Amino acid sequence: MLAGKRVLLIIGGGIAAYKALDLIRRLRERGAAVTPVLTRAGAEFVTPLSVSALAGMKVFHDLFDLTDEAEMGHIELSRSADLIVVAPATADLMAKMAGGQADDLASTLLLATDTEVLLAPAMNVRMWEHAATQRNTATLKDDGIGFVGPNAGDMACGEHGPGRMSEPLEIVAAVEARLAQGPLAGRRVIVTSGPTHEPIDPVRYIANRSSGAQGTAIARALAGAGAEVVFVTGPADVPPPDGVEVVAVETAQEMLEAVEAALPADAAVFAAAVADWRVASAGARKIKKEGGKLPVLEFAENPDILATISRMEAGRPPLVVGFAAETDDVVDHATAKRARKGCDWIVANDVSPATGIMGGAENAVTLITADGAEAWPRMSKADVAQRLVARIAEALG
Ligand code: C5P
Repeated sequence: MLAGKRVLLIIGGGIAAYKALDLIRRLRERGAAVTPVLTRAGAEFVTPLSVSALAGMKVFHDLFDLTDEAEMGHIELSRSADLIVVAPATADLMAKMAGGQADDLASTLLLATDTEVLLAPAMNVRMWEHAATQRNTATLKDDGIGFVGPNAGDMACGEHGPGRMSEPLEIVAAVEARLAQGPLAGRRVIVTSGPTHEPIDPVRYIANRSSGAQGTAIARALAGAGAEVVFVTGPADVPPPDGVEVVAVETAQEMLEAVEAALPADAAVFAAAVADWRVASAGARKIKKEGGKLPVLEFAENPDILATISRMEAGRPPLVVGFAAETDDVVDHATAKRARKGCDWIVANDVSPATGIMGGAENAVTLITADGAEAWPRMSKADVAQRLVARIAEALG
């Protein structure tokens, strides 16, 4: 819920501007007040009348409108919100922001504000991938500007790739993550989830049966508790939750790199089922089926992400949580694993086939901490996530 929150929404000039209309509705449904600002280019795509009708208030669109200045000056307008959202954020608007330009109302508000800013970029894939836009994105991130999206997919211009604006509900989730109050507000948590895929050749891979359900539930619960969540996921069956930063990876090595890039963090929860080995000899060419000859695969050990992060000398997250999927002597094995990996907690579960836990909706876990083992009753994966997140909030204080 966003009751009582004030969002200043800047609508830039792009075909995705039509989604900003729905965004206004969704934000207002949740109790937020939306003050709309329409750029001149934005007004080519949606009309001031539809924007103001949906927002239930007038649209601001000209820097030199003296009536507006008398009612509320642009400086005040830029600071009176709890959050400024730019959707769609065009390449041009991002370039202006990165360069500190202020030649219209939107760019002036963005330069004058001391309020947090969230951008939902939308542009052609080549424009997004252009070195200038990537440079501007890096600069803006360095300046503390938040981003949601862009997503990859089919674009209105007929091309395919990253550049599509996030859907209104994804933007709402990102807004909620910033404005929602909760026990983990202001905390950053990394979650790994899903399986990893280790290539044998360009078309074949080694994988495991992890669905990603438990990791996804944990990331969702963390976001719901107000945490900023970086969700590093292998190719999972379930879609990632709303309101988290999704980093999609394939292999264990990519997963480790993504986790390291996401540091620093207040906590890390490693729920992914990482493949222990990769094919050392994986090549760029498909292995041919040749008369009766069987391929010989040579394996190499994958990095242990949990152990690597737990044993960092500098910059280790204060709370590191690992998982242990066991089929027998669950508590003994998980307690030994906690010591071996150097993590703070282990969430241990019995995945022997009779339990139906692997891929199912429920889980029965034992939490292993420095104080010993605590068996939780069997409950849904969503409830396990809620309970774990409550413990994380308590531990981080
Ligand atoms: O050793 P095992 O795979 O049973 O340990 C499970 C825990 O270690 C999980 O938290 C899993 O995410 C993590 N892990 C990891 N990197 C690996 C293997 C496991 O982070 N290469």
